[in-house]
Amino acid sequence: MAAAGSAVGLGNIWKFPYIAGENGGGAFLIVYLLCVLLFGMPLIMTEFLIGKQSGKSAFGAFRELNGNNRWQWLSWLCMLTSLLIMGFYFVVTGWCFNYLTEAFTNVFQGMDMHELTAHFKQVSSNTPRMLFFGFLPVFLTAGVLWFDVNKGIERLSKILMPLLLVMMFLMAGRVLMLDNSNIGMQFFFQADFSKITPTVIMEAMGQCFFSLSIGMGALITYGAYMPKTQNVTRTSVEVILLDTMVALLAGVIIFPAVFAFGFDPAEGPQLVFVVLPAIFEQMNFAWLSSVLFFALLCIAALTSTISLMEVAVAFLCEATEHTKHPLDRRKSVMVTSIIVMALIALCVCWDSVFGAFDEITACVLMPLGAMGMALFVGWCLPKDGQKGVFHADKGIKRWLRKLFIFFLRFVVPIAILVVFLNSLGVL
Ligand code: PFF
Repeated sequence: MAAAGSAVGLGNIWKFPYIAGENGGGAFLIVYLLCVLLFGMPLIMTEFLIGKQSGKSAFGAFRELNGNNRWQWLSWLCMLTSLLIMGFYFVVTGWCFNYLTEAFTNVFQGMDMHELTAHFKQVSSNTPRMLFFGFLPVFLTAGVLWFDVNKGIERLSKILMPLLLVMMFLMAGRVLMLDNSNIGMQFFFQADFSKITPTVIMEAMGQCFFSLSIGMGALITYGAYMPKTQNVTRTSVEVILLDTMVALLAGVIIFPAVFAFGFDPAEGPQLVFVVLPAIFEQMNFAWLSSVLFFALLCIAALTSTISLMEVAVAFLCEATEHTKHPLDRRKSVMVTSIIVMALIALCVCWDSVFGAFDEITACVLMPLGAMGMALFVGWCLPKDGQKGVFHADKGIKRWLRKLFIFFLRFVVPIAILVVFLNSLGVL
């Protein structure tokens, strides 16, 4: 559940619709689903394996499993990626908190699409306000890690995640009754193959890594907490199914509404923030549904930021453990929060920094991290270690095990390389 909480977040509800909208809808969806099959399954299992086998987070795990420091660079990469993601992710979480407070006070009532678009611009360019709302979730996340109440959060998300799903189903039901909603469904589900360009493939791969939280060690940490009896294969399938379902649902809510209300699907990062309030206007119990939805969205974002910050905090603890100045958990939380707040300030003040962090992490750093982990487990881990991933999966067939290793050794690294070269125009 914690891993699902990490995976399901703003990546599904905010990023997926806007990236799909910018990259041709149906064409993007096909490539995205292929990426989930090709990369998602083997890589989630890989991260769980590294964590479960070593009992450590990224920094300690590579040393523990390999006996030397040759793969240590991967944990530095994880740390860097987590910091950069937090820089812009907290800003978007801040937008959610801002919209939650505004939903409370009924600010959106009666606004048409131009007013909603103007409202978003006005809110997101209000620097002091955005700094406040960006820092607020940092304090909440740091508080959870500081007081070690992860378990409580996990229990909470067991109730709230299904509630978010129910809410999204209701919204989809309402949106599909709007005039012209079928155009949006066509846009989202009908693939025009001529629109599949190297950029679309690159964006789809990046979105797959981002949405499933792979390639930066978050799931290594969660693997470390896994009981030995936990079935890794099943857990990975469950995380993927849940994450993909939420992303698809978000698409089914946003695109029909985009076309029904006359928005542009390629609106960019603001897309869901202008479309969602317009949807609530059409719903029964408009006030209640918008407050409830934004509250659930904030919580979904927080279960992701907790896993993001945990990567940096665990890194600092493990990396300084044997030095003259070891950082305990609480000091690490403090240091991480300060760095993250500086990065948030950069993202709030410069749109280009926000865009660059968003793009570079998903399309470059996470695929690189994932490639490194696949090569590490595929080529450097002894056979016994590799098999460890199936310890609790008694029924697993031998050919499936072989397939897993084959994917890690060849398919995943080569596919990532091909996507990179393709988008650089080399192929
Ligand atoms: N998967 C999260 C989302 O879709 O919102 C974002 C994320 C969380 C990425 C944790 C990476 C991570 F380690």
